[in-house]
Amino acid sequence: MRILVVGSGGREHALAWRLAQGPEEHRLFCAPGNAGIAQVAECVPLDAEDVAGLARFAEQQAIDLTVVGPERPLILGIVDEFRARGLAIFGPTKAAAQLEGSKVFTDEILRRHGISRKRFEAFDDAGEAAAYVRSQGAPIVVKADGDALGKGVTVAATVDEALRAIDECLVQKLHGRAGERVVIEECLVGPEVSVKVITDGEDLMALPPSQDHKRIFDGDTGPNTGGMGCYTPVPAVDEALFTAIIDSLVRPTVRAMAAEGMPYTGCLYAGVILTADGPELLEYNCRFGDPETQVVLPRLDGDFAAALLAASEGRLADVDLPWREEAGVCVVVASGGYPGPYEKGKPIRGVEAAEEVEGVTVFHAGTAIRDGLLCTNGGRVLAVTGRGPDLRSTLTRTYEAVERITFEGAYYRRDIAHRALV
Ligand code: GLY
Repeated sequence: MRILVVGSGGREHALAWRLAQGPEEHRLFCAPGNAGIAQVAECVPLDAEDVAGLARFAEQQAIDLTVVGPERPLILGIVDEFRARGLAIFGPTKAAAQLEGSKVFTDEILRRHGISRKRFEAFDDAGEAAAYVRSQGAPIVVKADGDALGKGVTVAATVDEALRAIDECLVQKLHGRAGERVVIEECLVGPEVSVKVITDGEDLMALPPSQDHKRIFDGDTGPNTGGMGCYTPVPAVDEALFTAIIDSLVRPTVRAMAAEGMPYTGCLYAGVILTADGPELLEYNCRFGDPETQVVLPRLDGDFAAALLAASEGRLADVDLPWREEAGVCVVVASGGYPGPYEKGKPIRGVEAAEEVEGVTVFHAGTAIRDGLLCTNGGRVLAVTGRGPDLRSTLTRTYEAVERITFEGAYYRRDIAHRALV
């Protein structure tokens, strides 16, 4: 097949890398890609959000399957555009991508179908939102309704903090259109896990559980990031819990979307909180996780490209993607200063030496070639990913590889997966 991957981060490098593993040989393209992706795919200088440009490219190049990495093009409707032109594409339609694109949509559909018991109310008036917060007290959660680039959720410990979050959204409009409406939710308490499935709108196939670390500093402290590392398997998610999450949340959501005329196709990523009353949904994402994809895909056997095509064509029941019983660890090496301001263009050394460590692949997240040198070109720069027979030995080999990589200001967390080993 001729396959186009849309995006430019570590997740897209892992997707392109896994698609290149076969068993069939494919011709791969990636828009826009990065320096690492260029080793397995032809990079095309088209922005991931240039929906019309990507569709034209897919037509001109007779692309058989397009796989979309980030959420923005999905929320913008890339799947609808491709389908209207008869092009196969893996991902949800614009209507279905509302599961990530609108927190109000998600809360309402889960309530309508009896999937969630969470208390929530939506507001576009700051005074009414403030009155509701005062009536409920804290802790309480304030979410910008739309896609606020990972910055729209406040878990407020006090009423004042919640009122500030409402003001930022509805009065100061700090999140633009994404914050024109807020949803105020009860604050659920418990450990968090995430579960991802591939679905064709009816059948679904669960991917191996993985867990990420979103905060910048060790001990899960400091500001949120896109993800500083992750691991698989997740000892806290045993088979019974995994089945409970799929059967009580994910499968009913897929059914609800179909029942409402918006069948969900693609990867559905559920952020789940394990409350005393059972699993509850924190949020849905309409795409593969980053960096979870980097540890999950190496565990999959079978024909990945065929499975994604089948999912996009409503034939998921025809395919199987068995997983290997092995472990994966990903440590993200970031630019100094990330997730705040950081410099780009720092020469990177040691990637080849890192990949000499057994079981290690270095996925590129933010890299570019400048004057013939591999340089930093983003906040998250490299996703150093190890695989092995168990978590402990995989962790050791992954950090051995990380230590071989150097660039000015390089930063990484030293405690990835540690909580899985206590
Ligand atoms: N790792 C978090 C995310 O992909 O949203």
